[in-house]
Amino acid sequence: MIDLFPDSAALDGGELVVGGVRASALADEFGTPLVVYCEQTLRARARAYRETAPEAVTLYGSKAFPNAALLSLFAEIGLGADVSTLGELELALRAGVPAERIVVHGNNKSDEELRRAAEADVWLVVLDAADEAERAAAAGVARVLVRVTPGIDPDTHDAIKTGHRGSKFGLPPDQALRLVEQARELELDVQGLHVHLGSQLLDVSPARFSVDWLAGFAAECRSELGWTPAVIDVGGGLGIRYVSTDTAPSVHEFVRTIADRLERAWSLHALPEPRLVLEPGRSLVGEAGVTLYGVGVVKHTSHTSAFVAVDGGMSDNPRPQLYEASFACLLANRAEEAVAAVYTVCGKHCESGDVLVERAPLPEPRRGDVLAVPATGAYTLAMASNYNAVPRPAAVLVGDGSARLIRRRETVDDLLALES
Ligand code: LLP
Repeated sequence: MIDLFPDSAALDGGELVVGGVRASALADEFGTPLVVYCEQTLRARARAYRETAPEAVTLYGSKAFPNAALLSLFAEIGLGADVSTLGELELALRAGVPAERIVVHGNNKSDEELRRAAEADVWLVVLDAADEAERAAAAGVARVLVRVTPGIDPDTHDAIKTGHRGSKFGLPPDQALRLVEQARELELDVQGLHVHLGSQLLDVSPARFSVDWLAGFAAECRSELGWTPAVIDVGGGLGIRYVSTDTAPSVHEFVRTIADRLERAWSLHALPEPRLVLEPGRSLVGEAGVTLYGVGVVKHTSHTSAFVAVDGGMSDNPRPQLYEASFACLLANRAEEAVAAVYTVCGKHCESGDVLVERAPLPEPRRGDVLAVPATGAYTLAMASNYNAVPRPAAVLVGDGSARLIRRRETVDDLLALES
């Protein structure tokens, strides 16, 4: 179980410690729910991307957790940012990510988003629709990629597949080819192609197929348009382990597979080797994050139902409801005590579906205990809501025995301030 926690996690006297700080001390100082990010893990994952493919450009898929502190930590290691809204773009700029390492996505970009991307002089805007070449040119955008859907259906939840036939993202190959042509006629600098198959991929083969497919498509572009992509952006997608039975490829294995395949496929088609771009989100931040909750009510409602209720739930982590995602948990302050029962860990929200962990073998939980849910660094706080008018949690960065607030807790006053 501890192997699902960040690299620095350990048990000390039966208590979970992350980045050298006790979970109970973090809960006391910052309150709960609290998302704790381990700096050592963030740096290790970022370096794994950089070191495995130093020739590639690695962009943090900032939608996994759009946060200025994380964006600047990654920028220091040489990463850029993939942003998909005005908000994510402003966060990346504020974090000091160099504009020449920012790529702007979005399946429905507003004129304001296109204008801001042009004004900030970001490296690339990824065209995602037939009318976007014209709109991007009018907004003053200079350099673009064209997003193409290869029709590959990876093994992941339907809601997070994107590269399949009929996807709302990108364009099918024939339309993508026409968009490359049109963008060039409009004198946009079309630097290359973009593909993103989907997220939480636990197998490397779809990524390999997509590189082979892209090489064929690039060869078609050469023969039809006399144009070849100088940049190939393969998106993100590498999955992580959420529960002990999950297995996931390492960053090294995933990136090496893509980089080696690219070299091979491009040389088979005698194409000039392009610059590779990677956009990992989850695999950079997911395993670095742990959510700490305070235990409240413990209830045995039948011979077979034992509930432990925590002070958060589907408002800070909607992944179980959205993707039938499974999570594990640990009673952080009494982790080594004997298991008393198998509990359902539920949240405080007003629906029965507000369940974080279906079956958690735990020591008898008591009010005031701290419950830790690992692998919650990606797409949790990023997708948090104010359901039931619950303020969103804080986030801290821990390392070398100290903790730093990187996003403050919302307050009820913040919510009241929105009302007129
Ligand atoms: N690039 C593009 C264009 C993307 O759309 C995404 C994710 C990424 C990169 C980063 O992908 P990653 O490495 O994180 O798989 N909320 C869902 C995941 C949605 C992913 C959206 N796009 C979840 O909680 O599973």
